[in-house]
Amino acid sequence: MLTIGVLASGRGSNFQAIIDNINSGFIKAKIVLLITDNPEAYALERANNHNIETRIIQPKEFQDKDSYYAHIANELKRKDVELVILAGFMRVVERALIQEFRNKIMNIHPALLPSFPGLHGQKQAVDYRVKISGCTVHFADEGVDTGPIIIQAAVPVYEDDTEETLSERILKQEHKIFPMAIKLFSEDKITVDGRNVIIKGKREDTVITNPSLV
Ligand code: GAR
Repeated sequence: MLTIGVLASGRGSNFQAIIDNINSGFIKAKIVLLITDNPEAYALERANNHNIETRIIQPKEFQDKDSYYAHIANELKRKDVELVILAGFMRVVERALIQEFRNKIMNIHPALLPSFPGLHGQKQAVDYRVKISGCTVHFADEGVDTGPIIIQAAVPVYEDDTEETLSERILKQEHKIFPMAIKLFSEDKITVDGRNVIIKGKREDTVITNPSLV
């Protein structure tokens, strides 16, 4: 069975959605470790509730980013992690981790990449007054939200939307497409060819343009 390690910095609602989809049998996998950079993260409580091992690993304990991410990579390898999930991990993951898990680190981003990368993707979309935004699951590479895209879901942006209302609408889709992407990975249905992520089976599974249908 696929072994998963999760990195999260805060609330952990995506982490919870993944736990729930494993518990319901939708995803056949086991989460063996939660790593956080934030001792206050609610994700820690969620992990404890489900008997998932946790580590708090903070950059300030390390000389530089290379040794920080090399340490995280080692912790994940010690637990035989095969897929790393960035579930609201609010740091740019650097080379020392990426190169150990090439195309095996999935990130969720609250915008339709390559629009609005970095922090506050939802606020950027509201400020720009786009009519459509959404969320993206992609493999992490050395850039900021630049890696190969696995699944995207679109949501409308309304004239009276605020960062909060749009975030809420997007989050509902995040909780659907992240588990979907992990399920595809666990079933060995994902191949990466450069930027192109090829999914075996139904094409429409990876482009969700009408959220009310899913
Ligand atoms: C989610 O909206 C996720 O897309 C975003 O942080 C939130 C975490 O929520 N991630 C990023 O912005 C990464 N750049 P959660 O802790 O409830 O899953």
